[in-house]
Amino acid sequence: MNNRPQTLGEFIIDHQRDFDYASGELSQLLSSIRLASKIVTREIRKAGLTDILGASGIENVQGETQMKLDDEANDIFLKALKNRGIVCGVASEELDDFIVFDEEKHSDSKYVVLMDPLDGSSNIDVNVSVGTIFSIYRRITPAGQPAKLEDFLQPGKNQVAAGYVVYGSSTMLVYTTGKGVNGFTLEPSLGTFQLSHPNMQMPADGKIYSVNTGNYLKFPQGVKDYIDYCQDVDAETNRPYTGRYIGSLVSDFHRNLLKGGIYFYPQGTNAPKGKLRLLYECNPLAFLAEQAGGIATDGKHRILDLEPTELHQRVPFFVGSKNMVEKAMSYVTE
Ligand code: AHG
Ligand code: MN
Ligand code: MN
Repeated sequence: MNNRPQTLGEFIIDHQRDFDYASGELSQLLSSIRLASKIVTREIRKAGLTDILGASGIENVQGETQMKLDDEANDIFLKALKNRGIVCGVASEELDDFIVFDEEKHSDSKYVVLMDPLDGSSNIDVNVSVGTIFSIYRRITPAGQPAKLEDFLQPGKNQVAAGYVVYGSSTMLVYTTGKGVNGFTLEPSLGTFQLSHPNMQMPADGKIYSVNTGNYLKFPQGVKDYIDYCQDVDAETNRPYTGRYIGSLVSDFHRNLLKGGIYFYPQGTNAPKGKLRLLYECNPLAFLAEQAGGIATDGKHRILDLEPTELHQRVPFFVGSKNMVEKAMSYVTE
């Protein structure tokens, strides 16, 4: 009788009982992320208009009083996370240090959130997809005290939920709570996310490799050899692969999740530890990748096993289809 797709709200409530300790708080936390992502969607759509006006010579509309969109996305998520009193602290790629929420309503809050509020923001001005990445942990320190650094410096395998929003031709929210990966598309006229991609699985093989080859000369020899392998001709293994690199990690990851592929941002002479951030970018995407049957590694270790030492730590990152990442590792670790 009911053929309409499930909404994200319905899905969250339906799956609340998956958790032994479910008290509805994680559901409320996911709801605040859902709300923030709708607001960011609206702002991003407006930002296009603002840019057009600015280019027409109306300088005042932009100027210093207007926040950059990545700061704005940061504020929108911070407010939504703070309002419900479920979260005791947030760390963000946009902030030097973590923020502690310590009003009365946060006194029993169990969760911390780490986020990249606007990923790929250099793509905003040219109307190319950007995203938000989020990662959720239970705090380690006792509730009732201010959140501490150790609550944020947990290995990725401790994540209780993670996901991303991609603001593309449509807005999609994709997340996991450790029981598979599900994707929801924003139906703009209703303003509801609807389950469009249930139980997402990353194909074990693929034909897409995603890397900034402008850095080729700076990469370690193993990485160069693997790129050469991707470009070699061999009909049996579908090579040469197709090179696809948007420069928005979320969008590159999302495409490879759907179609099969590998994304990598290795270390290079300019970036001895790579560019991507372990806590805000790599851990959440690694959690999603593994939940969808893929692999994420820094070239030597499983990303989710790394013990973070600082908030803005960078790591080399190889993520994607299982067989492709394994093949890449056979070159990289040689
Ligand atoms: P952010 O916009 O959050 O700073 O992230 C940008 C990241 C990531 O989205 C992308 O994959 C990568 O930077 C692109 O870097 P290069 O331009 O060096 O390839
Ligand atoms: Mn980013
Ligand atoms: Mn960012």
